[in-house]
Amino acid sequence: MKIAICPGSFDPITNGHLDIIERSAKLFDRIIVVVLTNTEKNTTFSLTERRDLIERCVSHIPNVEVDCFGGLLVDYAQKRGACALVKGLRAISDFEYEFQMALTNKILDPNIETLYMNTQSEYMYLSSSIVKQVAKLGGSIERFVPAEVHDIVCSRLKEGAK
Ligand code: PNS
Repeated sequence: MKIAICPGSFDPITNGHLDIIERSAKLFDRIIVVVLTNTEKNTTFSLTERRDLIERCVSHIPNVEVDCFGGLLVDYAQKRGACALVKGLRAISDFEYEFQMALTNKILDPNIETLYMNTQSEYMYLSSSIVKQVAKLGGSIERFVPAEVHDIVCSRLKEGAK
């Protein structure tokens, strides 16, 4: 059984994230989407809120489960018996940051491989930060986040902007 992890901050999940999750689920027996702490970022949604939002969006994919974890990604991957980490790559600008994480994880656990999946061109521009910025200023995020979480994300972000 080949298990892969789709790790991230997911603050909140976007259509770009969901696309990577759906495509990864076709390549592995099981995908575990795990929400982690990125010490470089202040998040709007708590770890469990982010997990719950993703759960609403992936119920149609039978081999996907969602979890959250407060420690190191490689520790989580070992605990779950995963062989790979799958990350979406949007543009060259993502590469250095992703490469740094992949190399660090490889030193922490040489048995776990990092795989990059290119985003579809329609999601090249999309990020959770852009979504938050647009929603906080009253713009429509309908085309950016899955319909299952649109209203929750919208009202929460508008609330935070008050
Ligand atoms: O969506 P992001 O913010 O690019 O994801 C980054 C994330 C959460 C995957 C990364 O910060 C992470 O792995 N955090 C867990 C702590 C850890 O293992 N850090 C060392 C990895 S270099």
